[in-house]
Amino acid sequence: MEATQTILTNYHTHCYLDDGEGRPEEYVEEALRHGLRAIGFSCHAPLPFAQDWVLNKSDLPVYVREVSALKKRFVGQIEIYLGLEVDYLRGMLGTSSPLIANLRLDFTIGSVHFMTIGATDEQLTIDGPEEDYKRLLEEGFGGDIKRMVREYYQLVREMVGEHTPDIIGHFDVIKKNNPSAKYFDENEAWYRDEVLKTLDSVAAAGSILEVNTGGLARGRTDSTYPPLWVMRECRKLGIPTNVNSDTHQPNQLTHHFAEAHELLRKAGYNEKMVLLEGKWQMVEL
Ligand SMILES: [Fe+2]
Repeated sequence: MEATQTILTNYHTHCYLDDGEGRPEEYVEEALRHGLRAIGFSCHAPLPFAQDWVLNKSDLPVYVREVSALKKRFVGQIEIYLGLEVDYLRGMLGTSSPLIANLRLDFTIGSVHFMTIGATDEQLTIDGPEEDYKRLLEEGFGGDIKRMVREYYQLVREMVGEHTPDIIGHFDVIKKNNPSAKYFDENEAWYRDEVLKTLDSVAAAGSILEVNTGGLARGRTDSTYPPLWVMRECRKLGIPTNVNSDTHQPNQLTHHFAEAHELLRKAGYNEKMVLLEGKWQMVEL
């Protein structure tokens, strides 16, 4: 059990239908073991081009059916919500796109994983293999990391403004391929300015900015997405938040939850926004 007394929830989880492991029910059983009040499923939404880590469009009905069946099976024990983690693809896809909106999901997570190599329109992931990150940097941005990072945050601002997802997924995932400040220094003024400008967009839109422990749990980052200083700024701007693990394995469902909640308290938060009884509401942290 976690040391924290706050109501525990987790709305960012994957499963065998995308790039996660295990059936949704294994995540629910793990959630029950950890005393969670609610669990949300957020498979990677189908994309308009082939990728092996997202839900196939043909599996969408299977996903909806499985999660809906679990809602009924576990009624009275835990609240279960159906969501998707939807990529923002400029001019092509976001959480308010008809394909997504027509599903009448319980909630959405909006994430930026892709950037394009300009003229070719080739989509490359920024949180995938480092070779892709390097190719994007060299071929898409002429080796100028500042331009690439700025474009990432520009995409986040567009996503927030055009689609207003319920939750912004891993706000600063652009740092995933940047361990030990290999490509850029997150403490430099230009980077901080870009983050602050993006937080203004998030605050204006009213989306929730999650504290995501996935990078920590998988040993890919040494801080949460995003770190403490960003959450301090979020607090100043009144941006609502919650804690999610972005887990791809049932046994990592609540990894680093205690420290993520502690980080929010340090940032000045005393409440968080959770989906309970079908409504987003503030609860004590
Ligand atoms: Fe993601």
